Amino acid sequence: MIKVGLVGFGKAGQAVAQVLQEDPRYELCWIARRSAATETAPGMDVPVVGLTTPDEWGQWLDTHPVDALVDFSRPESLHLYGEQVRARGLMLVSAISAYSDTDLAYAHTLAADARVLCSPNITVGINFLMMAARLLRKIAPFADVEIVEQHFRDKPEVSGTARKIAQTIDVNEDHITSLRLGGIVGHHEVIFGFPYQTVRLIHNSIERRAFGTGAAFALAELAKCGNGFYTFEDLMMLMVQKELANTSGH
Ligand SMILES: NC(=O)c1ccc[n+]([C@@H]2O[C@H](COP(=O)([O-])OP(=O)(O)OC[C@H]3O[C@@H](n4cnc5c(N)ncnc54)[C@H](OP(=O)(O)O)[C@@H]3O)[C@@H](O)[C@H]2O)c1
Repeated sequence: MIKVGLVGFGKAGQAVAQVLQEDPRYELCWIARRSAATETAPGMDVPVVGLTTPDEWGQWLDTHPVDALVDFSRPESLHLYGEQVRARGLMLVSAISAYSDTDLAYAHTLAADARVLCSPNITVGINFLMMAARLLRKIAPFADVEIVEQHFRDKPEVSGTARKIAQTIDVNEDHITSLRLGGIVGHHEVIFGFPYQTVRLIHNSIERRAFGTGAAFALAELAKCGNGFYTFEDLMMLMVQKELANTSGH
């Protein structure tokens, strides 16, 4: 069983903790946050600790060793625990969406001595949608493509995920249509218009626990890899390549 320490216990971290705690492949050992520790997390039986300096991280890991860190906190925490990842060869699954180029360059240096995954988009569903859309774009470059994203009424900006999809399949952002209505959590759709048929790839977010499912997938796949820097898409592609190799000739 892979021993995991979760970094960040906000909106996303709390949902991820639930998923990791229920997954028999993992032992969620503790949760680290910025503020002072509380004894245990509400609704779970793992300790929660406040860690704010590299020394505190080193001391905590000496007494509470784990195999992997899953980060749903803030970009700056990478620089607090990073040298521990390097020195101990910990697996790192980071979901932080707002890393700077400097942060990412630092994460790449850790990958010389550890398995590091950074993914600004950590749901299995959206990553699968992007992979499938990319493939279909290759197969049918002549098809018209439009992206529709729907979110709750008060979301002000165009969905970052929709922009990422557009970038991934090399479609101009003019082809994104945004609808704002009610309380929609997140709907992304890529529509391929062929002359005699239409293909729609649709992803609907239901709740934040999907981030936990993505982190669990990433941990399982990362555990099979050598040291290096990976994206979520890299891990999915490795799995698809293995699957294709197994089924070729059938
Ligand atoms: N990749 C994805 O698909 C995806 C999806 C969702 C979220 N995220 C990312 O996950 C992160 C958290 O999002 P959220 O909505 O849960 O935010 P949030 O509710 O504001 O929670 C942030 C959490 O991070 C903790 N934290 C902040 N600085 C820290 C530090 N230096 N060391 C340890 N913990 C620290 C906070 O601790 P305190 O509780 O003590 O303040 C808090 O528990 C964001 O970076 C977001 O981009 C990514």
